[in-house]
Amino acid sequence: MISQNTISQVFETARVEEVIGDFVQLKKAGSNFKGLSPFSDERTPSFMVSPVKQIWKDFSTGKGGNAVTFLMEHEHFTYPEAIKYLAKKYNIEIEETQRTDEEKALADARESLYLVSEYANTYFQKILHETDKGKAIGLSYFKERGFTEATIKKFQLGYALDEWQAFTDTAIKNGYNIEFLEKTGLTIVKDNKQFDRFKGRVMFPIQSMSGRILGFGGRILGNDKKAAKYLNSPESDIYHKSKVLYGLYFAKQSIAKEDNCYLVEGYTDVIQFYQTGIKNVVSSSGTALTPEQIRLINRLTNNITVLFDGDEAGIRASLRGIDLILEQGMNVKVCMFPDGEDPDSFAKSNTLEELSSYLNENAKDFIQFKASLLVREANSDPIKKAETIRDIVNSISKIPDQIKREVYIQECSKIMDISEDVLFSTLAQIRKKEFQEVNKKYKQEQKAFDVVKNEEPSKPKVNVQYELERKIIEILMLYGDRTEQFEDLVLKEDEVSGDLIMEPQVQEARVFEKIYLDLQEDEMMFSNDKFRELYYTIIDKLNQDENFSTKNFINQLNQESASTITSILMEDEKYNLHDWHRNNIIPKEKEHTISQLVSQTILSLRCFLIDQKVAEYKQETLLESADGKSILEDVKDYVSLKMLLSRKLGKVIGGYVTK
Ligand code: CTP
Ligand code: MN
Repeated sequence: MISQNTISQVFETARVEEVIGDFVQLKKAGSNFKGLSPFSDERTPSFMVSPVKQIWKDFSTGKGGNAVTFLMEHEHFTYPEAIKYLAKKYNIEIEETQRTDEEKALADARESLYLVSEYANTYFQKILHETDKGKAIGLSYFKERGFTEATIKKFQLGYALDEWQAFTDTAIKNGYNIEFLEKTGLTIVKDNKQFDRFKGRVMFPIQSMSGRILGFGGRILGNDKKAAKYLNSPESDIYHKSKVLYGLYFAKQSIAKEDNCYLVEGYTDVIQFYQTGIKNVVSSSGTALTPEQIRLINRLTNNITVLFDGDEAGIRASLRGIDLILEQGMNVKVCMFPDGEDPDSFAKSNTLEELSSYLNENAKDFIQFKASLLVREANSDPIKKAETIRDIVNSISKIPDQIKREVYIQECSKIMDISEDVLFSTLAQIRKKEFQEVNKKYKQEQKAFDVVKNEEPSKPKVNVQYELERKIIEILMLYGDRTEQFEDLVLKEDEVSGDLIMEPQVQEARVFEKIYLDLQEDEMMFSNDKFRELYYTIIDKLNQDENFSTKNFINQLNQESASTITSILMEDEKYNLHDWHRNNIIPKEKEHTISQLVSQTILSLRCFLIDQKVAEYKQETLLESADGKSILEDVKDYVSLKMLLSRKLGKVIGGYVTK
């Protein structure tokens, strides 16, 4: 575990504009920076970074946060990965909390495996590009397959010489320990003899999600039917096949951006797709997809399109595996290629436009696809048909979302020409308790994997109360700790006439206290759960902490709250984006009018709530005129309170405008 000390140091040192600047071209815009959103394909910049607040906000997608959340969103790092990345960038030494010797040894051993793999990767590439044999055999093979120089470099493809110990000897000469060469499987040790596992093969390195080399796939060059076409690195402390997807490192951003992931079978399918211009593609390396792999994709998108070679036998074998994807709550489409084609060959012989439109036109929803596939062969055979129904409904039963399940039942009823009732009762049979428990467990797991999405609470179109509550949070965050002069109108009895009059009175107060007390006076409660929670958290913090700082505060919040807060704080920066420069409008100096801003917001909220009350009462009066009288009295009270508040508000707004 990274120590809290290191984490704090990272947060103190990291500058959000510098961190983001490594990924997004930022231009100065007033006190902020702006740039094109890295999360969408926009043409006018709506991505803002505030060096003052140390936060960022992407108005095109609603995402926002601090430096760490940016890395988690953009690079799809986990939290520790993001902290480590920043520590490295800012030369902060990572202090780990107490680890046992055993843990330390394990970490060191893993690191050694990484280093050996890294070395081998460089070596194989060097052989490919810089030796005669490499060029004549390996490089020409890749070129024959249609890979460009740039693609070969990008995917770090390499070649292992056709000699028994060429690699092992060089590695040992360069100081790499045979123990780790063996553990990564690069070298096979037998009877005190050492052999290169990948002798005479072209090499496909397998990258982790963050780009480290975990293992290799090596392909023989010819069509020797006796030798295995591919040899792969064995499982090791760093390479767990079931948790790795080939190509994910190169595809992750595109998957998130396109909100879809293409799943293919092999290394070459991935590379050919990527080269043609479809980058959101990964491969399970010829094996059935595992739940871990699905979850890797699920961190990036909810949509997956499985691509099949054009042979039905292969498809049938894969149908079961796809239920696993449904189980994870993802939307699955499938797409078949014409007979005799696989994704690699099809991408190779078509342009990007042709490939894209083929995929768009032929990708079918999985359930529908499965239903029509099975129904074709079962139609004439009643026993088979019953089996088929159970099979399809079984797939449907894996979908966690109930509404979706029902839609599918309706559709399958049409496709298979079976009544919905039959399908529903089959579904009920299948969905036994046992399954529901599995489902529940899965949902908990999935939560842990959720990355910050648009954490903005869903916002009704115009909701005054929502806006005002939000404004109050903003004020608390920006100015909560300040002391201000508040001018309030107090109701007084005129000494001469005895009439009630209003008199201005100036009081000094801390902004958060003023807000808290005023709201309490009306026994006002935030209607938005998220805002209410934040409100109390902030008030609490301000109460305890003399040196309240927005930045530290955000860092202490959970991701969801932090994201809500940054959205609120960046909202006003929108003006800078659009109108500010163009219209030459100087943004109103908030600082001079904090007290007015506070008063205005609170009064507006109070007025709003009174209006609501009055409307409620009016409704009631209409409904039950028997008791109407006392209610009318109440309404009158409220109306006069409203008038009073409106006058106060008028005063505040008046002051606000003329100042
Ligand atoms: N595979 C493997 N071992 C094999 C055959 C296949 O590990 N003996 C894995 C590889 O990851 C391969 C994937 O299964 O990429 C798909 O197999 P296949 O379609 O036969 O290979 P392609 O990737 O299409 O390779 P090529 O186009 O070079 O034949
Ligand atoms: Mn192939």
